[in-house]
Amino acid sequence: MAITVETEHQNGAESVENRISVRSLWKVFGEDPDRAMSSEYTGKQKSEIQEELGCVVALKDVSFDVNEGETFVVMGLSGSGKSTLVRCLTRLIEPNAGEIYVDAEDVIKYNGRELTNFRRTKTAMVFQHFGLMPNRTILDNVSFGLEIQGIDKHTRWEKAREVIELVGLKGWEDNYATELSGGMQQRVGLARALAVDPEILLMDEPFSALDPLIRREMQDELINLQTTLKKTIVFITHDLDEALRLGTRIAIMKDGEIVQLGSKEEIVDNPADSYVEDFIRSISRTRVLGAGSIMQDASIVVDSSTGIDSLLKKLDETEEDHVFVTSSDNRLIGMVSEKDLSSDSLDKNSSLKELITNDPPILNRVYQDTPIDELVPLSAMSDCPVAVVDEEDTLLGIVTRGSLLLSLAESQQAQINDSSS
Ligand SMILES: Nc1ncnc2c1ncn2[C@@H]1O[C@H](COP(=O)(O)OP(=O)(O)OP(=O)(O)O)[C@@H](O)[C@H]1O
Ligand SMILES: [Mg+2]
Repeated sequence: MAITVETEHQNGAESVENRISVRSLWKVFGEDPDRAMSSEYTGKQKSEIQEELGCVVALKDVSFDVNEGETFVVMGLSGSGKSTLVRCLTRLIEPNAGEIYVDAEDVIKYNGRELTNFRRTKTAMVFQHFGLMPNRTILDNVSFGLEIQGIDKHTRWEKAREVIELVGLKGWEDNYATELSGGMQQRVGLARALAVDPEILLMDEPFSALDPLIRREMQDELINLQTTLKKTIVFITHDLDEALRLGTRIAIMKDGEIVQLGSKEEIVDNPADSYVEDFIRSISRTRVLGAGSIMQDASIVVDSSTGIDSLLKKLDETEEDHVFVTSSDNRLIGMVSEKDLSSDSLDKNSSLKELITNDPPILNRVYQDTPIDELVPLSAMSDCPVAVVDEEDTLLGIVTRGSLLLSLAESQQAQINDSSS
């Protein structure tokens, strides 16, 4: 069950549905963690502290929240502290200081029994190297988490069969892990995590060992599963492409600190420093930014009872070639083009309803977060601007071919500037 916690965000206090709240978390490997965490060393770089004290500051005063049902991606270069962070969440690594709240309970305060219970039932981990047991069948590997919970064979096999099917491995139950390809083994890893029905999935570079095509397939699989499962996921990756595909929000780590945390749009549009800029340099903004960022109001929107004469007058007054027709609650009914309205063969007594076009490829609908790049083929197919709607089909705005071309040109220019800077 999710809880609502009052937390201090960068933008001030706000109320969100948090699953996980991490506050001022520190992990120092080495002899003298207290000194490394003291004010004496606050302003010093990780490398300086390592030189002076022989300690590695793997996590430095890290705070963040993970919302219910989101895929929270943690990105950063090798050694930036990602694995340490995700392992601290279940205390596979004991942090030196800080608080970790999961559903308002402080995990740091758990005793041994509570911690075991928390690890076995509330969370599940998926690792880069799948960690399957070679001498057990897929069915036994997947049901292992339930076995250690003491669940009887019949029930755990039933559940295991269900999740094996969910990850697309039906028919492989009796095979051994060594008989499966890397991609299939990682599906087993995922199934094993899902079998215990955890509320929180912790995934440490789960797809990094897979070749690019299989990796993309696994990302699709996760996106697909997540539409129904809606788990709260902390997902670690090196790979910006993966982060952008999967992440609801992305935290970027450097030397044990989170240097930026935000939506992909925020990060790509407004990188916090040169470290983040380096990450996003190769990314075309139009692949990340959504249609909502370049939409404008449709200048002519009418309801379906409007008369044709008054419409033609409106069209005369503007430069527009298209009229969007909505219902009284602003849902998009369709579009009428000036060409149809002014056609010689048009019977002036016909009603607007008869002239409305509602389907692609003439009238195309997208959501606010549909990447701008995906609008290009739509815009090429039709003279009509692309309609931006929400899930209820409310008309939010339109993207004209002109504004689409402008944003593509700007993105291209930004990339040229990036690569020459
Ligand atoms: N057991 C340990 N003892 C000492 N130092 C450690 C230990 N584990 C990690 N570190 C150090 O802590 C820092 C963070 O390591 P961590 O494994 O969390 O990085 P990462 O971001 O996951 O890197 P990668 O992308 O390579 O997996 C590194 O400087 C690493 O050398
Ligand atoms: Mg790691």
